[in-house]
Amino acid sequence: MAPVNTTLYLDHAATTPLRPEARDAMAPFLEAAFGNPSGIHAVSREAKAALEDGRERAAALLGAAHPLDVVFTGGGTESDNLGVAGPSLASGGGVVTSAVEHEAVLETAAFLGRLGKSVTVVGVDANGVVDPAEVASAVGPDTAVVSVMTANNETGVRQPIAAISAAAREARPGVLIHTDAVQAFVSEETTIGSLGADLVTLASHKFGGPKGVGLLHVRRDIHLEPVLHGGGQEIGRRSGTHNVAGIVGMVTAMEAAAKDRDRFRTDVLVARDTFEARLSAAAPEVIFTTPVEQRLIQHSHFRVPGVDAETLLIRLDGLGVAAAAGSACHSGAAEVSHVLLAMGLDQKAAGSSIRVSFGWTSRPGDGEAAAAAVVECVEALR
Ligand SMILES: Cc1ncc(COP(=O)(O)O)c(C=O)c1O
Repeated sequence: MAPVNTTLYLDHAATTPLRPEARDAMAPFLEAAFGNPSGIHAVSREAKAALEDGRERAAALLGAAHPLDVVFTGGGTESDNLGVAGPSLASGGGVVTSAVEHEAVLETAAFLGRLGKSVTVVGVDANGVVDPAEVASAVGPDTAVVSVMTANNETGVRQPIAAISAAAREARPGVLIHTDAVQAFVSEETTIGSLGADLVTLASHKFGGPKGVGLLHVRRDIHLEPVLHGGGQEIGRRSGTHNVAGIVGMVTAMEAAAKDRDRFRTDVLVARDTFEARLSAAAPEVIFTTPVEQRLIQHSHFRVPGVDAETLLIRLDGLGVAAAAGSACHSGAAEVSHVLLAMGLDQKAAGSSIRVSFGWTSRPGDGEAAAAAVVECVEALR
């Protein structure tokens, strides 16, 4: 395959390059150690040992009470489906969620609504933040699960998830809390204790692991209706032959990301802050969607009034710079972001917004280079 001519990758929120540690750890399971971990012979036992070792390592990193509290899935979307639909379908109860969730949560909630479950979607303030008191007042006697993300994939805005959990539990002791921590894990220490959640979604490809694999933390005492029915793997919570290479790669990337977090935070913060300072200086009309304090350190989200997002992105691509508008997690159609509309932006402002997201391969100097490229394009388009 011919190499892609991108020199500056600023779309880590969409996906990240594979970490070399993850690739090396996966290699044996793509070749000689190809076994199905559900069998009894030696080839299977080798795969089973890697799977259970991965489960223990993931559980330790998350501060889970038991390795079996980790369910391996086919990615963030599947984990969100299981984390939201699982408790609702098992108990018959409803869902409380927020207007800025990823589609994997919102569409699952909508599906549950079509099945007759109660679904409440709470709004956000102008910075995209959910009010814990509003969640608490939406929780009713039939609420099975509250699902609010740890941080948003488009804006990077972080939610007060521990306060949301506490307020929801006060409103209804025993209500389950699900959080999608897909974007946060790479830069924030993410443990079950610090989140105060019962169910936590992670997606491997957002922190340097392979695509198509994820996990859901779910305590063993929580009754879930599976979303994939079949052979009963993962103690009946997720059927399907395990993606052993993917799981080994994901867990290795989790460990590498956790080990790399301090370095990541230092480099990415310099890159992101330099980018915003240089861009503001050269194009003072730029509007950052939220203050930096609200965001994960790797996200920048802005618009330049009068400059269309898609046109800017195409120009940037021409310079070998990869950035995004809205959410790149869905199938390519240029839709106006539901997240930005929920924050009160009008269609025009939402349609001019751009996301620049740094990641584990970013270096401090990338902020300067990113700003130079954006400024060059903005000046041409003004
Ligand atoms: C916050 C969030 N949740 C869920 C997903 C879906 O994860 P996956 O691509 O692994 O299905 C994504 C991105 O793709 C995301 O950014």
